Amino acid sequence: MTSGSESVVAHAPGRAEWLGNHTDYNDGLVLGIGLEVGATVTVQPACDRQLVLRALDLDETRHCELDALSPAEAGSWANYAIGVAAEFIARGAQAQGLKLEIHSTVPMGAGLSSSAALECATARALQQAWGTDFDDMELARIGQAAEHKFAGVRCGLLDQVTSLFATRDHAVFFDCRSLEVERVPVPPEARFVIVQSGVKHALSDGAYNERRAECEEAARVLGVGKLREATPALLDAAEGDGQLHGAPLRRARHVVGENARVAAAVAALRAGDLSTVGRLMNESHESSRTLFENSCEELDFLASEARKISGCLGARLTGGGFGGAVLALVRGGAEEEFVKSIGDRALAVWGHVPQALVTGAGGR
Ligand code: GLA
Repeated sequence: MTSGSESVVAHAPGRAEWLGNHTDYNDGLVLGIGLEVGATVTVQPACDRQLVLRALDLDETRHCELDALSPAEAGSWANYAIGVAAEFIARGAQAQGLKLEIHSTVPMGAGLSSSAALECATARALQQAWGTDFDDMELARIGQAAEHKFAGVRCGLLDQVTSLFATRDHAVFFDCRSLEVERVPVPPEARFVIVQSGVKHALSDGAYNERRAECEEAARVLGVGKLREATPALLDAAEGDGQLHGAPLRRARHVVGENARVAAAVAALRAGDLSTVGRLMNESHESSRTLFENSCEELDFLASEARKISGCLGARLTGGGFGGAVLALVRGGAEEEFVKSIGDRALAVWGHVPQALVTGAGGR
């Protein structure tokens, strides 16, 4: 589009964090899948130096000056797209006026990273429209920077990397220290059911950043750069001599445990052993509940009920936590009955049936 006037269309999927909770900004290991739902951005040239953003689903339009991009009000969807455009410009992109039409099928505030899907689809669209050649890891960093500077969430790279690297029927195994990405085949009998807690998670409300600060505090006390370098033995020693205690100790134990679980899950996946992956998911949820304290009553209810249903191999909260959704690993063929059963169980206690999304691993 840099020379002509045709429109470009770009897409990026939402993501589910399969395992590796709050490990990414600790330089740890994560395992994600792309979803079959995502964000689509259609770009057309605009004749002046305006960035016009139109959210089709919300029927909202924003006009921004390309030369003076600044955050919209806190919590606005527009920040993700404006932030990405600003980061392109900061990296030297020759920006021209554009109209972006946004359509997304990722539920918002559900822990499925509708924000990363929007950032990544916007990044792919701007890349074509403005003729830049950033690689996918740089596009992921652009999305992350938008999140930090325009949405106020000091997130890691899990969401953006999973969205940009996801391929159909594969999980994305990402080492946040070496930045290596490996696509691991997902056994064909694996299905995922994502069940909404109905508790709106708002990562910018401070709890996420607070957890990150506690992890940084634990790393400082342990004398390591990032918690990736911590081991169970190091934690035991620091606990034993009274150096590390309370919340920072619990957060560190969670992160160290999650890194080990991701490594074990990848090995199990390679061996086609979904039962082990499911067990690791259950352990992850228990660790979130007791150590990282980023679960809530509704997520605990869904995770424990899910495990009682036939064909469910494991269930855990997915994403930042404090609300959002539970991800259940279900054997193919059992997903319909699972959705019905979890719906009935929630109906009996909550008085309503939660939304559930059945998906395989999606992506390009
Ligand atoms: C959110 C963040 C990610 C990651 C997860 C927790 O989704 O955006 O970077 O930290 O929470 O694992």
